[in-house]
Amino acid sequence: MQKLTWWQRGIIYEVYPRSFQDSDGDGVGDLAGIRQRLDYLVDLGVAALWLSPIYPSPMADFGYDVSDYCDIDPIFGTLREFDALLVEAHRRGLKLILDFVPNHTSDQHPWFIESRSSRTNPKRDWYLWRDEPNNWLSNFGGSGWEYDETTGQYYYHSFLKQQPDLNWRNPAVRAAMFDVLRLWLDRGVDGFRVDVMWLMIKDDEFRDNPPNPAYTPGAPNNHRQLPLFNANRPEVHDLIAEMRAVVDAFPDRVLIGEIYLPIQQLMTYYGKDNRGVNLPFNFHLLQCAWNAEAVARTLAEYDSALPTGGWPNWVLGNHDQPRVASRIGVHQARVAAMLLLTLSGTLTMYYGEEIGMINVAIPPEDVQDPAEKNEPGIGQGRDPERTPMQWDSTLLAGFTTGHPWLPIAPDHTTANVSSQNGDAKSMLTLYRELILLRACHSALIDGKVQSITALDNVLRYQRVSPDETLLVLLNLSHEPVQVNASGSILKSTHGDRNGERIDPSTTLRPAEGLIIETHPKAEFS
Ligand code: GLC
Ligand code: MG
Repeated sequence: MQKLTWWQRGIIYEVYPRSFQDSDGDGVGDLAGIRQRLDYLVDLGVAALWLSPIYPSPMADFGYDVSDYCDIDPIFGTLREFDALLVEAHRRGLKLILDFVPNHTSDQHPWFIESRSSRTNPKRDWYLWRDEPNNWLSNFGGSGWEYDETTGQYYYHSFLKQQPDLNWRNPAVRAAMFDVLRLWLDRGVDGFRVDVMWLMIKDDEFRDNPPNPAYTPGAPNNHRQLPLFNANRPEVHDLIAEMRAVVDAFPDRVLIGEIYLPIQQLMTYYGKDNRGVNLPFNFHLLQCAWNAEAVARTLAEYDSALPTGGWPNWVLGNHDQPRVASRIGVHQARVAAMLLLTLSGTLTMYYGEEIGMINVAIPPEDVQDPAEKNEPGIGQGRDPERTPMQWDSTLLAGFTTGHPWLPIAPDHTTANVSSQNGDAKSMLTLYRELILLRACHSALIDGKVQSITALDNVLRYQRVSPDETLLVLLNLSHEPVQVNASGSILKSTHGDRNGERIDPSTTLRPAEGLIIETHPKAEFS
């Protein structure tokens, strides 16, 4: 096996800090809480935790509106507490990745307060100011432009009006934000997940976006147009290469970009000569229909589009997306776990996936997410997938002693870490075993993905390294299906059959997945 870096070999686990573990009873998760749960992450077998933003913020978008990039919000703790978390994580061999939010600041950031104070302020050009708005829309409903009385101009915001977009064409902005990266890298963080990377640079002529001919009424407002001029601009790649150089000046760090684009365009974010991000997040499993043909197509398309030297990655969920167990059902979520953990490259898990957490229905009076408040009732809200981690079956799920900021899932009495611990058939055990299996098999880590096929709603592929071939069979249907395969079973999603030898014609039970060590001869037959 070639020498791989920690982020190529290991799994990344996203922690949404508000919802992981509360240590002080205020109902909101915090850094001290995360620190108490590090051993859980070690037992699970992940390599790194990525924290959604923990910087000072008015919390209009729950931390994605940063008012100071260099400190910690008191709701999460202090810089001292952050250092303690970092030390404890590193002591256990865990890496720590921070969220970096460069596209916009909070409107309470001192830079924006200065910028809006007068047209001649030195920071005026740090944001996007215009006499007249163009037609660009906000991703959270309504126009992307907000009129500002003091100076009689409009500023642009891709998201809330409390999140003004920075002007990344301005070298002073670049310098200031790169200093922020260096500050955290110096402090010892192992890398960054960069928020909405493909939106960072806008058309310098501010041309109007064309209408989207496929728009249907009832869809989110920003679907009315094609984001031709305020997203995925060619100039963004030079900027990313600069950012990468900043990170690369520190040994052994990783740069990950949040990028929602079709596969071909996504691949350009590896950059010329792979000088872009190390990992442009691959969200295509989130968007793909759950049937064997669609998934097979996605795997094949991604694999063949990957540039030479580009390291693949896969994601099943994050804090912006419906939970996988709700999207495809709890039985298929086990199949999805086996899929994820047998795919190539770096995998990212979202907290709670490993215990099968589902979306939680949020009563209207408990809604927190501005995406839901601004465009209610059309499925834009992200609270359902952000509910507190379910540690045990007690009333507050072991998350807090206070009033949780979002409701605890009613199913937490069974879907929780403590009841699933040691239960051979639980989701948690399945995740732990699959993670361990992956770590022990070179074919799963950097073997080729081969012979991807779909038949009778069974997805089938091989992982092949010089010394072994593994066959993965995933039944995406709820019927038993007969398959033609032979070898011995390394793992079944159902938690039994391990070690069983199978004949050329064996039956996959409904929603069963198998990892099979094939007989050397069988692969060539
Ligand atoms: C990203 C974040 C999302 C946030 C948005 C604006 O998409 O993942 O949670 O609301 O950016 O910062
Ligand atoms: Mg707290």
